[in-house]
Amino acid sequence: MKIFREEYFGGILYDTSTLTYKIITDGKDKISADRFIPFSFKPERTDILSAPVRVYFELTEKCNLSCKHCFVSSSPLSKNGMSTSMIFSLLEEMKDSGIINIRFTGGEPTSRDDWFDILNYAKSLEFVVSLSSNGVYKDTDKTVSQIASLGLEQVTFSIDGLEENHDYLRGKGSFKSLISTLEKLKKTNVNSRLTTVLTKLNLREISKIVELASKYVKVISFVFMRVIGRGRQELPISFQEHYESGLEVERLQKYYPELLILHSAMVLPGQFLKPHSSSGIDFSSSFANTSLNIAANGTFWPHHYASHQTDYFMLGKYPENKIKDIWFSSEILNRYRTWTGLLQERCFTCEEFRHRCAGYNFEMEIASLTGKENYCCVNNTPLLPPWIQ
Ligand SMILES: C[S@@+](CC[C@H](N)C(=O)[O-])C[C@H]1O[C@@H](n2cnc3c(N)ncnc32)[C@H](O)[C@@H]1O
Ligand code: SF4
Ligand code: SF4
Repeated sequence: MKIFREEYFGGILYDTSTLTYKIITDGKDKISADRFIPFSFKPERTDILSAPVRVYFELTEKCNLSCKHCFVSSSPLSKNGMSTSMIFSLLEEMKDSGIINIRFTGGEPTSRDDWFDILNYAKSLEFVVSLSSNGVYKDTDKTVSQIASLGLEQVTFSIDGLEENHDYLRGKGSFKSLISTLEKLKKTNVNSRLTTVLTKLNLREISKIVELASKYVKVISFVFMRVIGRGRQELPISFQEHYESGLEVERLQKYYPELLILHSAMVLPGQFLKPHSSSGIDFSSSFANTSLNIAANGTFWPHHYASHQTDYFMLGKYPENKIKDIWFSSEILNRYRTWTGLLQERCFTCEEFRHRCAGYNFEMEIASLTGKENYCCVNNTPLLPPWIQ
């Protein structure tokens, strides 16, 4: 299905099968869309999108697992998050502001007793709904049939290696549980995909992970481990290893035409928008920020790693602050937009860009300030973030 959301320059055409979107500067694709989201209010600014496209919503910090590399540092002892009624009214506000996609994540979203009701409500509000889950459930049959009944646009499960390495990071028995979930999901029409966090341990088993993935899903994505939260204690890969694993993925792709293999060393569609569209609008700076993050306690952040790195980027808290006010007027969000725009300009002129590197990562730029940086190979003099400048 295609959704067209009105913008002052034209609109955004959102594809619900891939969860990707295109910037449209004329009205043509409006006609081909199945659903149309008009402005429900007059946008206060024309230099940014009228609303985030995606919201990452950490439903809870709690988790049934305590993975060694978890950037959220989740565990069964972590906090549960907001009440059900508070979450319901927040969803209504998100709807009102024109947001298209909600990615429910955590912690482990399914560790909340009300997870099904929350996702069901989000679907009833016509959001494009995706879920990030570890696939380890007390009652696998029940959870799989609940997931299947929701009609979610996408469900992403984590696989961090073959059994030994997966269980090393995620806990004994978690690999077998995940495979049992994937087996059951195969019999449904759920659009599931896999994500693997690359560490020194699983670098040598990429081809085996891909082979396994091809049995269960249509998409697998390899991402490098962020040195955030408990990720600080683990075994991050180097810039060169990251690049080489990207080459390996490219090579493997030829043997698996039915499986889309993504890798964080690739520039993904929409990740860096072209500096100038034919309309003359500069889409490279503030337009590049298309998402918002909601932490389990109801605080808003510009990025899904930010809340686990520094308090500086806290944009507000629900219900005291409204999404529209934050999106259009937050000084901190403006500074974030300016800073990431500068980072983007730096990467556009770097000879590694689109050669060995997909461009900056907000969170790794911040991590570099603490000497933990392992991503940018040329960033010896980090572009200082706004709270230091
Ligand atoms: C925090 S988890 C929440 C969803 C669910 N509990 C899970 O593990 O899939 C979201 C994603 O972040 C990944 N992740 C966890 N720690 C990470 C780290 N240090 N760096 C990069 N990704 C990480 C997980 O593997 C998962 O794919
Ligand atoms: S990575 Fe996911 S499953 Fe593992 S502890 Fe963190 S939230 Fe839980
Ligand atoms: S400056 Fe660093 S992050 Fe940017 S493209 Fe070059 S290597 Fe990549």
